[in-house]
Amino acid sequence: MTLLRLQHIMSNEIAKRTFLSRPPEPPAEVLLNDPFQSLFIGTTKIFKIPFTWTYSNLTNPHIAVVGITGSGKSYFVKTLLIRASYVWNTNAIIIDWAGEYKAWVKQSGGVVVSFAKGDFLNIMDLAGMKPLDRTKQIINSFDILTDVSQYPEQKRLTEEAIEQSYVNFGFVPSEKAPPGKEVPTLKDVISLLEEKLQEGTYEYPAELENAIYRLRQFAREGEDFFARKSTIDLDKLSASGLVDIDLSGLPDEKFRALAALFILQTLKEKMRSEGFAETKGLKALVVLDEAWKVASDEKSDAIMIVREGRKYQFGLIVASQNPTDIHEAIFSNVGTSFILRIKFEKFMNYLQGSLNFSDFMRGEIGRFGVGQAAVEMAFQTAIRFPETFLLERIHGEEPLHVYTVDISDILTQSELAAGIIQRDYQFEQDELNTKLIELNISSDNIIALFKNVDANGRMIKIIDFIQELKTSGAQNMPIITFLKSLSLDDTIITRIMARSGS
Ligand SMILES: Nc1ncnc2c1ncn2[C@@H]1O[C@H](COP(=O)(O)OP(=O)(O)OP(=O)(O)O)[C@@H](O)[C@H]1O
Ligand SMILES: [Mg+2]
Repeated sequence: MTLLRLQHIMSNEIAKRTFLSRPPEPPAEVLLNDPFQSLFIGTTKIFKIPFTWTYSNLTNPHIAVVGITGSGKSYFVKTLLIRASYVWNTNAIIIDWAGEYKAWVKQSGGVVVSFAKGDFLNIMDLAGMKPLDRTKQIINSFDILTDVSQYPEQKRLTEEAIEQSYVNFGFVPSEKAPPGKEVPTLKDVISLLEEKLQEGTYEYPAELENAIYRLRQFAREGEDFFARKSTIDLDKLSASGLVDIDLSGLPDEKFRALAALFILQTLKEKMRSEGFAETKGLKALVVLDEAWKVASDEKSDAIMIVREGRKYQFGLIVASQNPTDIHEAIFSNVGTSFILRIKFEKFMNYLQGSLNFSDFMRGEIGRFGVGQAAVEMAFQTAIRFPETFLLERIHGEEPLHVYTVDISDILTQSELAAGIIQRDYQFEQDELNTKLIELNISSDNIIALFKNVDANGRMIKIIDFIQELKTSGAQNMPIITFLKSLSLDDTIITRIMARSGS
């Protein structure tokens, strides 16, 4: 009865077919777009249709990329950025947590900003903003990164001192800053608070002392990355081609997050002040790779960019090994999700819960090799085809030689049955080669090792692999570091080391 009625309502041919047997992929007219206004990503698995990505019919240009380590997230991001720069002249700003993009950015002629190599960012820089707005942003970052929100008085003191330092430098708090004028740094803010403490008239000196202490951690000699004159022109950040902000040289996660939040705030402000664009395409893509603290806090500007980015032609790409690190508001609102290989059940559950793909799709995602992906797009208008489809593989420029290290031999029956521990690890040839060099293995031995593994279908069992490393001259400590880099549990590492004879 219902079936007949629906058929009656959806009277055209396509609708009828869609209803009776759901096709496994969206139709070609959705996948194949104008090559001058879209980016080629790869060929679909079932109908072998070349999929070109554009956001013009999607809810927004933002992208989430998830997948285990080595699944191809960064490779995909690089491919997308390069093609977007060809097609739309899109600028890119990579907030590079682990420094994994810098070599590529250099090779591609981009700019690398590196805090380990003498670059600084003054988090009080105005880049055309009102001092009041910047003050709020700085306080917001401290809210996310420190415990200041639990101490309202300290928060108030800090906010007041920041604002006062701007006034002391001749700014009017509620007016946009004129270009080129010198700005205060956190050191000036600390000095103001110290003076106040010395005056001895303030009722709660302990509050002042704590506020000073909190700020000092970002202004210590040698760690004052954010308390000195900026070495980059923030005003030009979103219009400088390809820029990599390498955060790997910063002392800890808090510093990395502070830099990331500051850059997002500046970009958001820039995006709003430039207003709407007439042109087609994307002005800038901002990449957040593994920046969990920044992508998971709801006070973070990452969420503002996701909410408002479309109208300003700003896109955000968030990549993570752990989908639950990406805030729900980002994950459920991005126009496109690329799901690469996922192993952990709880991540798979989370993804299936938010994206609603089938159990068939779930099985496929668990078996993906490097570069294979499921794509999920959120269209602006209601559609009658599946939103998730499979790509044979993301088609970048480099050849693919994948090596697999199998650890199932050292897992216990119950670990195997529980299925929560990854059983094999995949490396692309170059990547494995780099790791072997890091293990201090001579090039002759590396060649011999590859030859062995090649003869065995590019697959090797972990114990055999570690024994080969040892006979090739690798020491225990670097081997352990290597195993840790695979995120293996300490108990499993101990087991591997014991069984490979040490
Ligand atoms: N689609 C692909 N085609 C060819 N090679 C690929 C593809 N995807 C990834 N690779 C190669 O596989 C290796 C791992 O990829 P990548 O660094 O992108 O993984 P990742 O998901 O970013 O890992 P991590 O989480 O550790 O950063 C690299 O050497 C890369 O060149
Ligand atoms: Mg990566």
